[in-house]
Amino acid sequence: MQEPALDLVIAALEKIRETRDRLPRASRISLTRLSRIVPNKATLLAPVRERVRVCTKCPNLACSRTQTVFGVGNPDAEIMFIGEAPGVDEDAQGEPFVGRAGQLLTRIIKAMGFAREDVYIANILKCRPDMPPGSFGNRAPTSLEMQTCRPYLVEQIDIIQPKVLVALGAVAVEGMLGTRGTMRELRGRWHSYNGTPLMITYHPAYLLRNQAPSEKRKVWEDMLQVLERLEQPITEKQRNYFL
Ligand code: URA
Ligand code: URA
Repeated sequence: MQEPALDLVIAALEKIRETRDRLPRASRISLTRLSRIVPNKATLLAPVRERVRVCTKCPNLACSRTQTVFGVGNPDAEIMFIGEAPGVDEDAQGEPFVGRAGQLLTRIIKAMGFAREDVYIANILKCRPDMPPGSFGNRAPTSLEMQTCRPYLVEQIDIIQPKVLVALGAVAVEGMLGTRGTMRELRGRWHSYNGTPLMITYHPAYLLRNQAPSEKRKVWEDMLQVLERLEQPITEKQRNYFL
């Protein structure tokens, strides 16, 4: 990509350092030019998205998908939400969390004081898990599918470098950490993912199935912890909020 240009600059600076008795200096103008050739996060994500788009590592999923679902949002986001896999709606639209669970996630994000465009949203799996012909609904990804696809997510996280990761539900947690735990013991406290703080909370689909206010409140409390970690001001209204 842009790297050959940077390599040339570095080689030139090394040469100056070797052959002159004074250290190389760069003018403001050269530094500005240099900063322009250092690629931004959106530029870095593009080739990963392209590799995902044509991925055939899981032949069954490559055959059954309408399209891959890479991720959506701000490449410079401070928060990254991670779900398990696209469902039927996401497969159709090519965007994560656009179905019923996604609409609830969008409401949660708004209650936190953000827009969907401010955060980054992705899944462990970039393909919708295939379903037997003639059947309806979605299935959870298998451990093998998640292991196969996880490197793409790791690349996304490495590029975006969010301040906080939020894993949605036990399957996403298994995909990230490789361990299966109960949500009761996992959620509501800080974990770490390759050095990035990771909050684990319930999947919005779980909240749709279990409408108990106490469960919704737990998710909201987890999100308050995220806001605190980001040193975002929290209003009284937000403190008392119930999803
Ligand atoms: N559930 C998920 O885990 N991810 C989506 O993108 C949609 C629903
Ligand atoms: N169990 C799960 O697997 N996920 C949730 O989000 C809640 C309970």
